Amino acid sequence: MEIKTMTTRSQLASHGGSPIRSQWLPYSRQAVDEADIALVAQALRGDIITRGPYVERFEKEVAELVQIPFGVAFSSATAALHAVMNMLGVKEGVKVVTSPNTFAATSNAVLYCGGQPVFCDIDEATMNLDPQALPADLGPHSIVVPVDFAGNPCEMNLFAELKSKSKFQWVEDCSHSIGATYHGRPVGAQADFSVFSFHPVKSMTTGEGGMVMCRDAAHADYLRAFRSHGIYRDSARPGYYEQRFLGYNYNITDIQCALGLSQLKRLPNFVEQRRALAMRYHEKLKGFGDLILPAETAQSQSSWHLYPLRIRFENLKVDRDEFLKALHAENIGANVHYIPVYFHPYYQSLGYQKGLCPKAERAWAQEISIPLFASMTHEDQDDVCAALEKLLTHLHR
Ligand SMILES: Cc1ncc(COP(=O)(O)O)c(C=O)c1O
Repeated sequence: MEIKTMTTRSQLASHGGSPIRSQWLPYSRQAVDEADIALVAQALRGDIITRGPYVERFEKEVAELVQIPFGVAFSSATAALHAVMNMLGVKEGVKVVTSPNTFAATSNAVLYCGGQPVFCDIDEATMNLDPQALPADLGPHSIVVPVDFAGNPCEMNLFAELKSKSKFQWVEDCSHSIGATYHGRPVGAQADFSVFSFHPVKSMTTGEGGMVMCRDAAHADYLRAFRSHGIYRDSARPGYYEQRFLGYNYNITDIQCALGLSQLKRLPNFVEQRRALAMRYHEKLKGFGDLILPAETAQSQSSWHLYPLRIRFENLKVDRDEFLKALHAENIGANVHYIPVYFHPYYQSLGYQKGLCPKAERAWAQEISIPLFASMTHEDQDDVCAALEKLLTHLHR
């Protein structure tokens, strides 16, 4: 501990001092073990390695986990979101309300279909889409896509209440929140459609992959057709198939779903480990006046996909970008979530103006996501805290 304290007092690595760590600590990484590898190898030895039995089993097991009738797996959550937007009839002139505090995939899915993303502001405490910020004129043709930022579920009851009045279609982007609960129930069954991502930085992975959760067999059929060129098959007519609409090849392989099935068994452990690490961050960082720590709401258990720290940069001599560079020089792989989507040059070229969602813009300017992943050790975490202490000590005004 004494050595650590001395290290925090030494010069910043960005100013020529020695870094807190000799090796880079990523902000996130997958946890793949021998059981995962064994099941993937077994899938590879099978007769069918895509559109086969592991895909179906994976869909079934995720649906059972979240207590909803159907899951339809895709090559990514982006593809899954595209499928849902297409199914809901998004096209030119259709507005889809979402959060600016998300990865561009959420609103890109709307643009793929020719629709118009409408960004509404966030609740600063959770950084989730604020139900009170939704437009007043929502109706049955409207679509609302909240995002469970950092794995912390949105205020589902409020969205459900608003939906019961306005009858909008509710699509939850649960890309961050597999394994989280809301009022004790797994996330993924509250909205009309929910979408998970299984990208390697998420709580569990299939390498790349995503899934739509839904209640209705006709929707599940449509989604399966969408991921396969819009083609429907009929088990009563072997060899016959027909394309009923223009779909894509968004299939996920059995190899990926074997990994997913194996990871799914450890999902409760992964989430427990992330939660324990998040609580340990809370404890270790609570004394720093320059930091605003993330919190879950009383009704939710976050999956802690991210630990989104916010920093009172007005108290420091540097801005977020300089702070991040200094943290990286200490070999701590922090990241930023998220640049408001409409700040991206592409969105600016579509006519979105900065200033649209002031709370999201303020949160972004303060935010850094510090490393958090299931296999992270307490030593790794102590290094992150020591690096933060070092930077805050040196950079305080
Ligand atoms: C909120 C959100 N939505 C959608 C996606 C897209 O997920 P995928 O990488 O599986 O396409 C991501 C990816 O990080 C995300 O963070």
